[in-house]
Amino acid sequence: MDDLKKQILALSEVSGALEPSENERNKILKEVQQYANIFLNNLPTTKAYSSEKAKKEAFSITSEVKPLQKLLEIYNSEVAAKGIHPASAGHLGYIPGGGIYSSALADYLVDITNEYAGLSFASPGAVAMEHELLDWMKSLFGFPESAVGNLTSGGSIANMIGLTSARDQHKIKGAKIEKSVVYLSPQLHHSCLKALRIIGLEDIIIRHLQLDSNSKIIPEDFSEKLQKDKENNLKPFLLIASAGTTDTGAVDPLKELGEIAKKYNLWYHIDAAYGGFFILSEQRKKLFDGIEMADSLAVDPHKSLFLPFGTGAVLVKDKEAVFHSHHHSANYMQDAHAEVSRVDPADVSPELTKHFRALRLWLPLQLHGIAPFTACLEEKLLLTRYFREKIQEQGFKVGPEPDLSVTYFWWPQDENEDEFNKSLLREIHKDGTVFLSSTLIEGKFVIRLAVLSFRTKIETIDRAVGVLVEAVRKLS
Ligand SMILES: Cc1ncc(COP(=O)(O)O)c(C=O)c1O
Repeated sequence: MDDLKKQILALSEVSGALEPSENERNKILKEVQQYANIFLNNLPTTKAYSSEKAKKEAFSITSEVKPLQKLLEIYNSEVAAKGIHPASAGHLGYIPGGGIYSSALADYLVDITNEYAGLSFASPGAVAMEHELLDWMKSLFGFPESAVGNLTSGGSIANMIGLTSARDQHKIKGAKIEKSVVYLSPQLHHSCLKALRIIGLEDIIIRHLQLDSNSKIIPEDFSEKLQKDKENNLKPFLLIASAGTTDTGAVDPLKELGEIAKKYNLWYHIDAAYGGFFILSEQRKKLFDGIEMADSLAVDPHKSLFLPFGTGAVLVKDKEAVFHSHHHSANYMQDAHAEVSRVDPADVSPELTKHFRALRLWLPLQLHGIAPFTACLEEKLLLTRYFREKIQEQGFKVGPEPDLSVTYFWWPQDENEDEFNKSLLREIHKDGTVFLSSTLIEGKFVIRLAVLSFRTKIETIDRAVGVLVEAVRKLS
């Protein structure tokens, strides 16, 4: 055997560890499955939050080979047991995560076949599936078939793609930037503001619109500010509304705002990352009237469709506007571009190679149908109402009736109310049975409850009320 061949065979023996045999696969899969089952079975009694920090050294990379059992122990103690536990029913802070089991199975398959989901030439099936899901969303939100879309990593990138398209359709660049105006709510999610900076619009004029007592944009204020800016020779070009704000779950008056935006030829972007799929609920559908008027829309299946983190979506009506920044060609892409496809995901996103996200949404929708998703959303709405009733009975004060499943509340005090409520939240975090977060509403410190985990049930809410009452008793 010549030397070269010997070297190759020797290396092949070592690299063979990356391709376990069927027996080895079965063995490690069983260990992972056992871990997953214990994790899921224990969830009802595990805490929703631990303030303990992870030990970085537990993850150290060395040349030592470790058994899977040992690695699962590290995973359990240093990852799963620390911080907020998104899989827990008791995660009621920020915007809770999902993580339905069938999506995990889809991800397993996706990683095994490792489909290249960025280009139709590479994986016509993966791309067709993504298109089908986007078509479903188009019909849900009243977008025309001609709209384009993308399954993104989350709401932030979805918002960024929408806002980039707005910028490009209106050709906002150079000296025009400082004269261009964007209208938005002070309650808008910060990912939109971040996106404006990332896409070079840091110097744009931002008009914060007035809100009513339910934290919704007042359309008349938008109209007045817009007129004034036009009189002053500025260039109003973009309105961003929310269908479900993070702080209070408010849905802006989408139709009235849309009508004004259209009249003055503004790009209309709606951030529906949290609230969008509540459109499936018959009780709440009406709130979304006007969403079909948006030029671009961000929604997050990893929020209101209960998927594991890593799945957002954007829809944009003007294909050319999206293509302007996202479609690109290169010599090494010539084979892919020779293929006549509808729209490649890579044409609508900063990503080229991407995770094949479609399966983690398609499989659950096919396996369970849409009804359990709708029921789950309606259940969350009712649980929010139930929580508000229960804590008011206990003496808490609550914010206005929410549109969706986020509400805020506080314990009233004659003096040092904010300080008392901060201590209350610290107690809740120390206890960890449930996880809640806080915000400021018109400068006032309030505690938030966001019901969005598919695992949150009536017992969870009763537990949360119990923990709150006990914390007040302890502090009083
Ligand atoms: C209303 C809203 N928009 C956008 C985002 C950002 O989404 P992501 O965290 O998926 O990037 C969030 C996140 O909570 C949100 O609540």
